[in-house]
Amino acid sequence: MRIILCGFGVVGQSLVKLFDSRSDDLYSKYGLKPRVVGVFDSKGSAVNSSGLNLSKLVDTKKKFGTVKNYSKNQNSMSGIEMLKNIEADVLIETTASNYKDAEPGMTHIITAMKKGMHVISVNKGPLALAFPSLMELATYNQVMLKFSGTVGGGTPILDYAKNSLKGERITSFSGILNGTTNYILSNMSTGLSFESALKDAQEKGYVEADESLDLDGLDAAAKLVILANWIMGMKVTLPDIDCTGIRKVTTEDIKKAEKSNCSVKLIASCNKKLVVSPKEVSNDDPLCVNGTLNAIAFTSEHSGTQTIIGRGAGGTETASSILRDLLDIRQEIGKD
Ligand SMILES: NC(=O)c1ccc[n+]([C@@H]2O[C@H](COP(=O)([O-])OP(=O)(O)OC[C@H]3O[C@@H](n4cnc5c(N)ncnc54)[C@H](OP(=O)(O)O)[C@@H]3O)[C@@H](O)[C@H]2O)c1
Repeated sequence: MRIILCGFGVVGQSLVKLFDSRSDDLYSKYGLKPRVVGVFDSKGSAVNSSGLNLSKLVDTKKKFGTVKNYSKNQNSMSGIEMLKNIEADVLIETTASNYKDAEPGMTHIITAMKKGMHVISVNKGPLALAFPSLMELATYNQVMLKFSGTVGGGTPILDYAKNSLKGERITSFSGILNGTTNYILSNMSTGLSFESALKDAQEKGYVEADESLDLDGLDAAAKLVILANWIMGMKVTLPDIDCTGIRKVTTEDIKKAEKSNCSVKLIASCNKKLVVSPKEVSNDDPLCVNGTLNAIAFTSEHSGTQTIIGRGAGGTETASSILRDLLDIRQEIGKD
């Protein structure tokens, strides 16, 4: 399967390492032979229609900070030129999420789908701003648009709700969908101030370069948009979310919650309304996870409430979700 990879940061590099280390069993177990024919980062690109050497790609990025130096004839092809001119079956979009105009990911995804390529995106920006129209475009062009890694990282939250609860009617859900804010709130419950807890999270590399994405609830809201569209069939985008972040949570709020055996958590919920906001959650509720963990509880008409807990981020975890999407695409293509 020929792949173009947009973005070669934490997730992109984890993915090619995973392809490299698992190449034998991916082929023997699933018949999947991923062939990365093009990669680009913000500074340039590497192309080879017969397939790029994956460990050389990682080494080049490490040495030069860009994949552009992969071959002696440095490639000056832009991402869009690559998508238009290089033949591939799947685009994997891993550039940074942006909730203002969703670029550059939005243009990558639209260009690829119009060209008849299937798309896997771990970039939440385009889905948060345009989920309904992107799904329409995928249907119109008869391609698959997959996005397992956008919610829950490697934890198969979307797949669980969509496939394991098949036939059920999910009536509501609520969850902790942002590990960074959960880490900060968990540390505040041990007595740290918001500022100290934030500093600690920044030192550990948990906070996005634009801290507002975590602290003001935008990342959680983007995931809520994806869940609401995919699981509940709602046609919503980011402005439809009533969103409050954690900047105003004080140690007093946390102590007050403790008195009633509760913790303050940033909860994204869909129960008639779509809301992201700090809320008190009982310490006995399985949803009440600590640290960087994510958790989500789905309530359905017949099977009650089930809670899924797992790591919501991480390069290898997210790469494994891309692999799941790729295997789904492989399986669907195989049916033709
Ligand atoms: N990391 C996680 O655990 C995780 C989990 C779930 C979802 N995600 C999502 O996955 C995406 C990638 O995350 P990441 O952690 O891999 O981010 P990252 O390390 O910052 O990598 C982003 C990549 O995008 C490239 N890029 C930025 N602007 C570009 C442009 N205009 N054209 C081409 N490439 C461009 C960057 O290029 P340079 O290398 O040249 O800077 C970099 O290679 C994000 O949307 C994130 O929200 C991440």
